[in-house]
Amino acid sequence: MENNRASFGSNFGFIMAAVGSAVGLGNIWGFPYKMGMSGGFAFLLVYLVLAVFVGLAVMVGELAIGRKTGMSPVAAYRKLSKKFTWMGYMAVLVPFLVLCFYFVLGGMVTRYALGYLTAIFGWNTWNVSDIADFFGSFILNGGSMILWTAIFIAINAFVGMPALFVMLLIVIIYVACQPGAGGGYKFMFGWNIKPLQEDFLKVLKTAAGQMFFSLSLGMGAMITYGSYLKKQESVQKNAVIVVICDTLVAIMAGMIVMPACYAFLGGETSSGPGLLFLSMQIVFSKMGYVGNIMGFLFYALVFIAAISSSMSLLEVITSFKVDQNVEQGKAPGRKKYAIIVAILVFVFCLPTALDGLGSGTNGGATIGNPADVLGMHWAEAGDITEFAEGTTYYVKGDDGIYTKLAADEAFVEGETYYLDTSKTWNADWLDFYDMLSEGIMMPLGALVMAFGIGWIWKIDMIVEECEQSGHKFWGKGFFNLCYKIITPIGMAFVLYAQITGFFG
Ligand code: TRP
Repeated sequence: MENNRASFGSNFGFIMAAVGSAVGLGNIWGFPYKMGMSGGFAFLLVYLVLAVFVGLAVMVGELAIGRKTGMSPVAAYRKLSKKFTWMGYMAVLVPFLVLCFYFVLGGMVTRYALGYLTAIFGWNTWNVSDIADFFGSFILNGGSMILWTAIFIAINAFVGMPALFVMLLIVIIYVACQPGAGGGYKFMFGWNIKPLQEDFLKVLKTAAGQMFFSLSLGMGAMITYGSYLKKQESVQKNAVIVVICDTLVAIMAGMIVMPACYAFLGGETSSGPGLLFLSMQIVFSKMGYVGNIMGFLFYALVFIAAISSSMSLLEVITSFKVDQNVEQGKAPGRKKYAIIVAILVFVFCLPTALDGLGSGTNGGATIGNPADVLGMHWAEAGDITEFAEGTTYYVKGDDGIYTKLAADEAFVEGETYYLDTSKTWNADWLDFYDMLSEGIMMPLGALVMAFGIGWIWKIDMIVEECEQSGHKFWGKGFFNLCYKIITPIGMAFVLYAQITGFFG
């Protein structure tokens, strides 16, 4: 059974597929908003350290395990050791959880792409542009005529990932020219580790989750990709390329959104999952008519990036079922199960789509935030002797309703004050699914895998797999350190931070 898998025609094909799966909404939507909420430079620093010391090793490990076993996650882990089969099952559950918000975001991106597309033709589907004399001004506008020509050539020449790269570059330059943008670079790149001193665990857990999510790690995706990687290709080289390309795209997205926040939103970077849509809306409207074209291209390319990622996520779940069917001698039923899984995910997407991204029922959304629904909204402030600065306190009325204290309210000894905990963890359904998948299960998966490689199966298993066809495994000491010590300990901290955050 070892080697009878079809593999990619060329290594370039493999890299495009792996990078295509890794680069997605995680990079363009997730990275900027998490950076915005978690200290800018401090977040970037922790992210990069994790990518080098944890991400790279886990990437090499997953690709090697996948290629060695030639199987999808459940069968692959079972083959390595019966005791680790549950890791394979987790690798099927995690993509499911991810898709429960990924599809919703994909839908939002599509809406934005179409909104800008219709605006280009002057159909004002969201009332931003002026359609008067459209044709006359269009043909007389040399700038946009040239732009359209260039776009057409560009789409012909590149399409897909490279086009996204070029698009990001153009928007980076545009945003850089806006007054006030400099604050964004300072936020991102200016040495400032205060957020680490204030709340190291928060930055660590946010950056770690983001790193796994963005690199598609800790959930079997790269095991599946590895099973398609040819034996004569270098596992390590491919892992390095995927990690670098993915990180580059994320940083580019940050270099658009952060400066845009400083130029147009008064430096407010912490608005959460809506940040991409909110900030880009202003950027494109500032461009005038051309903004419609740029907006369309931007979201169309993000759409392509998102589709290539969500398809591979769906595939992880579907192929689990298909492999199981084949094993039991049943018909594979690929199409059928792809549809069943998609419908099932759709149902679980409904809360994400209906809670108004955390607006909750008070904010006019159809359903409440997870904290409301699960009744985890309130916690007693405990034995306090004065109000802490920057914290909002509530009192509970006889009718059970919590009322916010006014800013100048005097502290009353013996009174029970409450805190709104829904703001500290999974404020909305998106965060809730996100926290379960990238917050807990991905780090757990990475911890167990790294521990297994470091202490049980030993790094020689990886070295042997990587050294086929005359490739030399470099940095054995470094990787061994990553598997044995850095990843397990680092991830134990992440899980600790996540779980204490969860229970307040
Ligand atoms: N990395 C993808 C992104 O940044 C999302 C993702 C997470 C993914 N895990 C995956 C894609 C597994 C494919 C397979 O958007």
